[in-house]
Amino acid sequence: MNAPLKTTVQPVVRTNLDFKLDEIPRFWFGGDPFLTRMFDALSLTFPDGERYFIQSVRLFRDQITDPELQKRVADFIRQEAQHGIAHDKMNDMMRKQNMPVDQFITRLNKMMGYDLKHRSAQFNIAVTAAAEHLTALMAETFYAYKDTLKEAHPYVRALFAWHAIEEMEHRDVAFDVMKQVGDVPENLRKFTLAWTSVLMIGFTIYRANVMLKHDGFTPRQLLQMNIRGLPWFFGKKGKLTRMGRQYRDWFKKDFHPSQHPVIAQYDVWLKTLAETGDPIQAGEAFWQAAKD
Ligand SMILES: [Fe+2]
Ligand SMILES: [Fe+2]
Repeated sequence: MNAPLKTTVQPVVRTNLDFKLDEIPRFWFGGDPFLTRMFDALSLTFPDGERYFIQSVRLFRDQITDPELQKRVADFIRQEAQHGIAHDKMNDMMRKQNMPVDQFITRLNKMMGYDLKHRSAQFNIAVTAAAEHLTALMAETFYAYKDTLKEAHPYVRALFAWHAIEEMEHRDVAFDVMKQVGDVPENLRKFTLAWTSVLMIGFTIYRANVMLKHDGFTPRQLLQMNIRGLPWFFGKKGKLTRMGRQYRDWFKKDFHPSQHPVIAQYDVWLKTLAETGDPIQAGEAFWQAAKD
């Protein structure tokens, strides 16, 4: 792992990956209800969120003249569509647990539908590019250190690992569309990251709490879980807190996603998938290769 870190990788479309999600336990994150439901809450927005990203990018597709960017956009769309299919299976699992998945999704679609209809194409592509910045940072932060997802069930860890790999691969596609043909004012670009972060974090915590209520936890237990669990993400040594510098790089005038290295063990995932054809083994090797 002493080779210089890559800064760009090309999107590769992979289909029909099976993560055997129907075999995972209810509280798949080491039996921890709070961490499980926080990740569930994040995961359940992916299918429709990613369909919104696709629609936002499509608003500019006709204006792209660079054939290479055209190709990356096509692969971006196909990758996000595959993520939607895989995370829909997680949603089915949550539905079986009587979680109000469809209520959450209906509300989310109302919000995103409003944005597509009533706000500018510039706003929507900037939100998408900002959300892609967040997903690439999450990919890095959840897999850079072995400790972070140590307690997670290997199958879900593998699902998120594949998603992390592809978020790395296409992290600059929406950004390049925004820059090349989006004509997005700098202030709007900067604003949308703050806006998207507040919504994503706020709604994730809210949905996780609603799900925990459906799991049967009392308000008092919920409060205790939040007090204990939120610092895991946002505390001084929180998993998301440590991405602060990369997060804020967005606000630099000349920022581009390729200024951040691609996750160090990227090749391990590719190699293992090529050797075994099994995304669960690839995810396991990827996680094992993370820093201690
Ligand atoms: Fe995705
Ligand atoms: Fe993405």
